[in-house]
Amino acid sequence: MELIKDFIFGGFPCRAAFYNKEELFPSDTALFVADGNTASLITRSGDAPEIILTPGEAHKQWSAIDRILQLAMNKGLARDSVICGAGGGVVTDMTAFAGSLYMRGCRVILIPTSLLAMVDAALGGKTGIDAGVYKNMIGSFYPAEEVRICPEILQSLPEQEYWAGMGEVLKTAILGDWEMMDLIRNNKEAVKARDPEILKELIRRCILVKGNLVEEDLREKGRRAYLNLGHTFGHALEAVSEFHWAHGLAVVWGMGKALDASVALGLADAPWAEEVKALFRDFGYTLDADESPDAMLQAMQMDKKKKGGRLRYIIPAGPQDIRIEFLEPDFVLEILKK
Ligand code: GLY
Repeated sequence: MELIKDFIFGGFPCRAAFYNKEELFPSDTALFVADGNTASLITRSGDAPEIILTPGEAHKQWSAIDRILQLAMNKGLARDSVICGAGGGVVTDMTAFAGSLYMRGCRVILIPTSLLAMVDAALGGKTGIDAGVYKNMIGSFYPAEEVRICPEILQSLPEQEYWAGMGEVLKTAILGDWEMMDLIRNNKEAVKARDPEILKELIRRCILVKGNLVEEDLREKGRRAYLNLGHTFGHALEAVSEFHWAHGLAVVWGMGKALDASVALGLADAPWAEEVKALFRDFGYTLDADESPDAMLQAMQMDKKKKGGRLRYIIPAGPQDIRIEFLEPDFVLEILKK
């Protein structure tokens, strides 16, 4: 085990640490949840997961939570029993949600197996399921007591999933660690080749940026919202494309739009914004989408209704200089049409 940091999130201790594959599975696991892709990756000798969830947004539903809770009861788990969830963000969100409900909260250990879950989803206590088209509508803030990360696992991640996760890494660099952006820029080929050393360093830095924001603001009353950079635009693209756009790829497209908005608002320097967008393109990200700008604006309005307030945009004014802006629909439409 190699400690990244021991955090305290709203009073809950949470350890983030690197593990070798052999030590990754917690020996005191009482109930093991995985998905079809990860079940064979994480094994304790002879142990199979007791619950195999189907990965993918469409399966982030109450029925999965019910299965976990029923089995926890049937096995007679206590409040100090460990439920371990290994998988991408859908699995870690659902395992932690079930853990937050069982006996009003039992012990939860998460093993994120996608880059996106390692650098974002599994850390910070946001748990939940979707309700219809509304993502993460039902859930809780319940940090896992430990997030165990094995970067070695990423070598077998499908290409699109890798770049979706790298989108969240780039987001984290812009909002909280510009030195990491230089590291990425100076090591482009190593990033493309999934060099283990560079990946470990990027994950470590993302965990530190996110963890420090969550320590300050677990319930997203303030600066935690910076982590949603690219997400207001990105969620609209995801929804209008009926989730054909993977989350992390939609977030990069959304960051492109947020950069355009920033320049149009007179916040970011145009050359800086173009430089960042050029790096996105260099990694093969698409900053153009075929979806209708009107439909995307409408999707954002739905999002606004969901949040019961005005629509907020997280706008990058420069490296590690993030603003929260309320934008007029006509202005947003112009940006979407660009
Ligand atoms: N993924 C954004 C957050 O955890 O706040």
